[in-house]
Amino acid sequence: KGDTRVAPGLVRFELLHEDASGTKARRGRLHTPHGPVETPIFMPVGTVGSVKGVGPDDLVNLDAQIILGNTYHLMLRPGEALVGEMGGLHQFVSWNRPMLTDSGGFQVFSLSEKRKITEEGAAFQSHLDGARHFLTPERSIEIQETLGADVIMAFDECPPSMSERSYLEKSLDRTTRWLHRCVKAWGRERSSLFGIVQGGLHEDLRKRHAEEVCAVDLPGYALGGYSVGEVPEAMHAGVAYSAPLLPRDKPRYLMGVGTPVDLVTCVEHGVDMFDCVLPTRCARNGLLFTSEGKLTIRNAAFAKDPRPVDPACSCYTCRNFSRAYLRHLFAAGEILAMRLNTLHNLHYFLGLMADVRRAIAEDRFAAFAREFRERARAQEA
Ligand code: GUN
Ligand code: ZN
Repeated sequence: KGDTRVAPGLVRFELLHEDASGTKARRGRLHTPHGPVETPIFMPVGTVGSVKGVGPDDLVNLDAQIILGNTYHLMLRPGEALVGEMGGLHQFVSWNRPMLTDSGGFQVFSLSEKRKITEEGAAFQSHLDGARHFLTPERSIEIQETLGADVIMAFDECPPSMSERSYLEKSLDRTTRWLHRCVKAWGRERSSLFGIVQGGLHEDLRKRHAEEVCAVDLPGYALGGYSVGEVPEAMHAGVAYSAPLLPRDKPRYLMGVGTPVDLVTCVEHGVDMFDCVLPTRCARNGLLFTSEGKLTIRNAAFAKDPRPVDPACSCYTCRNFSRAYLRHLFAAGEILAMRLNTLHNLHYFLGLMADVRRAIAEDRFAAFAREFRERARAQEA
């Protein structure tokens, strides 16, 4: 029925090289049914099946290797059944490179109106029309398998960072039971299931949960529950002890992170995969990441500035347009402003990760990370 989805097969992680300059950084390759992903990698977020502001051709030109979609949004609109009828998510959005979907748990708690969590799952009302829905581990896996991403995520609870320890413990146990239900529901055909370790900023809870989650043999593991309101230093310290709790020979994915400094620092601690709305969302607000620090394009200082956003950048936007023109487009509310800003920011994040991979391969990542942070600190000052 016009189904062009690729042959089944689980993802496989190839650990290519470990940095020899004193960090835990790794160079790897994630083999997926839709081709390889070079790690460490940043995954642009395509929440509803589109990376906001750019098309698949743009993403290919940017050399994006894998993008992310969201169960929560796609189940509500257009509905996973429709996506399945249209040949699956890859065919529906015309992206034939690897994809990953998040399980929905996190979005239920951050986006839906009223929600209630029980042992069975999460009851919630849609942020779109208030309609009632119920998401369980089994439903989340069923939806994600219908969408057909290469990597699917376990259904977890990400408790608020300020939660009492007693609640965190109860939540962790439930997330572990939910993981076992996900594994039971998982068909192991086209989509590879990653487990998610929670535990907030408590080292003992992270250790306990990592043991429980990693006791299940899965193609990959994630760290959830970070970048949910804590200061960056607390997140970095948490990832420093949590990442090494995950198996060395499997991909490690830090969910929802982060800034350029977060990426470089967490790669140092041994993380392989990241996703974040930061580059795309900031672009739509006129905030651009450059080799010289952040730049707010609406700033009056750029009104007659003929220079590109970042003279050191080779992206389409910087090769062709001035700050003055981009500022004008943004002020005029032109759609093109969003697209050009998004192209630049994604180019910056993806280029940073390419530099990261090169520095690891050449055993100079410790110096790379130190210099990157020093430059960032000087730019903020
Ligand atoms: N995205 C960012 N953080 C999380 C998390 O803790 N769990 C899930 N499922 N998705 C996330
Ligand atoms: Zn650029």
